[in-house]
Amino acid sequence: MIIAKTIEETRAHIARARAAGKRIGFVPTMGYLHRGHTSLVEVSKRHTDFQVMSIFVNKIQFNDPKDYVSYPREFERDFAMAREAGVDLVFLPDNEMMYVNHLTHVDVDLVTTQLCGAHREGHFRGVFTVVTKLFNIVQPDVSVFGQKDIQQAVSIEKMVFDLNQPVKIIIAPTVREDDGLAMSSRNKHLDATQRKNALVISQSLGEARELIARGERGAAAILGAMRRIVESGNPQKIDYISMVRYIDLQPADTLAEKSVIALAAFFGTTRLIDNMVIEPAAGGFTCIY
Ligand code: PAF
Repeated sequence: MIIAKTIEETRAHIARARAAGKRIGFVPTMGYLHRGHTSLVEVSKRHTDFQVMSIFVNKIQFNDPKDYVSYPREFERDFAMAREAGVDLVFLPDNEMMYVNHLTHVDVDLVTTQLCGAHREGHFRGVFTVVTKLFNIVQPDVSVFGQKDIQQAVSIEKMVFDLNQPVKIIIAPTVREDDGLAMSSRNKHLDATQRKNALVISQSLGEARELIARGERGAAAILGAMRRIVESGNPQKIDYISMVRYIDLQPADTLAEKSVIALAAFFGTTRLIDNMVIEPAAGGFTCIY
């Protein structure tokens, strides 16, 4: 596995792979890898021949500077996991290289107004800016994002379409611990009690799925039942529990089309997110989470 620390080196290796007829797959990450990340590489391998992963803790997407400082960084461990997953090249830029004299940013309207976008000022602008830069450096054929960050994934699909970026976006399923907690680099900050309490997040999605299966279509009833479950886990704060249309991530009062139910809550100082995509299916809806 190649570890490339400069843009020039990265481009040269990728150009060689492309000249050898390989299609380039790309998984951008902020490191502290877990099975959620390696599952994205697995998906990418099904579509492409040369796997690139970036590891870059992107300062400009952190609305809370303390969160940036405490974000876990363990690069040697990341390299071992990336190698094991079949990554061919890790791009490991530094802050200076990515943002020297930087004045240009990328933003996507509407799809960023709700959910995390309403609570994390500037976060998505930071994400779209770095992802666009990374796409320009790597020029992948395919890039894979996790459903866990559904607003990020849907917005990046929109950005790629709007800006004619020549990359196919694939959204891969959320990977969960055996007890249902969605994998996240942030889980490491939970103490034992918070870790146990945080299970209410996936349990609340399970309840929403049950209600939908029984014919409930009203957002108020579904989200109210979810809130009661989440509150039973003593979260420090609930940022949101929402139902939105998939197409534009705007609020839906009634489940009538492809939609997303998403939530964000703090356990201690750790902010956790999770979601379920609801697809119309014969005679009802299928819930994917
Ligand atoms: O999902 C993440 O880890 C980050 O938002 C991303 C896409 C790597 C951009 O920094």
